[in-house]
Amino acid sequence: MKNRIGFWQEEIGLQEEALEMRTEIVRVGQGREAFTPQEEEALLRAGNIIKQGGLVAFPTETVYGLGGDAMNPESARKIYAAKGRPSDNPLIVHICRWADIGLVAERVPEAARRLGEAFWPGPLTMILPKAARVPKETTGGLDTVAVRLPSHPAARRLIALGGGFIAAPSANVSGRPSPTSAAHVEADLQGRIEMIVDGGPVGIGLESTILDLTVEPPQILRPGYVTEGMLQRVLGSVEAGRPGTEAQGAPRAPGMKYRHYAPAGELLVVEGPPREVVAYINRRTALDREAGEKTGVMGTQELLEQYRADVVKCVGRHGDEDGIARRLFSVLREFDSEEVTKIYSESFPAQGLGQAIMNRLLKAAGHRVVKL
Ligand code: TXA
Ligand code: MG
Repeated sequence: MKNRIGFWQEEIGLQEEALEMRTEIVRVGQGREAFTPQEEEALLRAGNIIKQGGLVAFPTETVYGLGGDAMNPESARKIYAAKGRPSDNPLIVHICRWADIGLVAERVPEAARRLGEAFWPGPLTMILPKAARVPKETTGGLDTVAVRLPSHPAARRLIALGGGFIAAPSANVSGRPSPTSAAHVEADLQGRIEMIVDGGPVGIGLESTILDLTVEPPQILRPGYVTEGMLQRVLGSVEAGRPGTEAQGAPRAPGMKYRHYAPAGELLVVEGPPREVVAYINRRTALDREAGEKTGVMGTQELLEQYRADVVKCVGRHGDEDGIARRLFSVLREFDSEEVTKIYSESFPAQGLGQAIMNRLLKAAGHRVVKL
């Protein structure tokens, strides 16, 4: 079945001729621990696709991943092609049991053991020196490797059935918001991959925290659900990723240098006291409408009915960071489906999980922020 060519696919130069594969969609688990015999059979087929060098998108607790065999250089090449992603952007290797970390990393420092005990399985990715058997194609030419042991039951079962090592970036076309449901994956990758394992909507909604353990003190390269404070409690000291540092010199998480998470419309973040934020956004959207734009607002429940834009979307309740994290990418995608051209978003406090929320939101906005 052929996918509709979207603006984002044109933008990164994906060709329609490439969309020839039939993408099978199988439903699995929906968050349950146990699988039915049919689901087991589907996961077995998915695992075989991975072992044979094919690609399968699958749910994790953070976002959906686009999986291929991490030990097969050809699989890495296919992942880059399907996503339209530059091949110097390394992939995360997903494992399904602690013991396998030693097969991916050359050395496993004591800090990694403590972190594994505290946060694995779960939304933390560790950067470690790469073992020789991991191909350079998987690590984008780097001598280090990103390793993660996800907690989602379907992810772990698939990794086990797929040979134990699945390289997976987020299952979106490069530059778009990460997928938090199988429908998002389908919109981006249908016709480009063999299978989508639909495990329902994800629980967290933002990608894993990435921690570089090859430097001292360890450095957060991408904030996520495992916060700076949580890491500090286990490690003593960690260096927080400073916003904007990726721009200077070689970025440590190469992916962070690319345009990310962006909706098609122009997104502006508006920060300030709630009443002023509402007034400012309403003034701007009124002007935009006169200029023929379709306007959108992403706001918190409490302020929602005060906005006058064409499309007003609720990202969650004020202060409910878990809810906001879970809905963020999906709301950004909804503006795309409604062809909104000017989007305004409230800003959120950048503490705890808020750090990851603001990291993604500011990237999506290309760092366009108005402070009132
Ligand atoms: O939650 C997640 O991490 C999801 C799910 C599917 O596991 N995956 C994900 O992958 O977000 P991706 O490829 O979209 O983002 C991985 C990030 C990129 O910014 C990449 O540059 C960085 O991790 N990365 C991977 N290997 C690295 C390495 N050896 N050194 C530094 N950064 C690395
Ligand atoms: Mg990604």
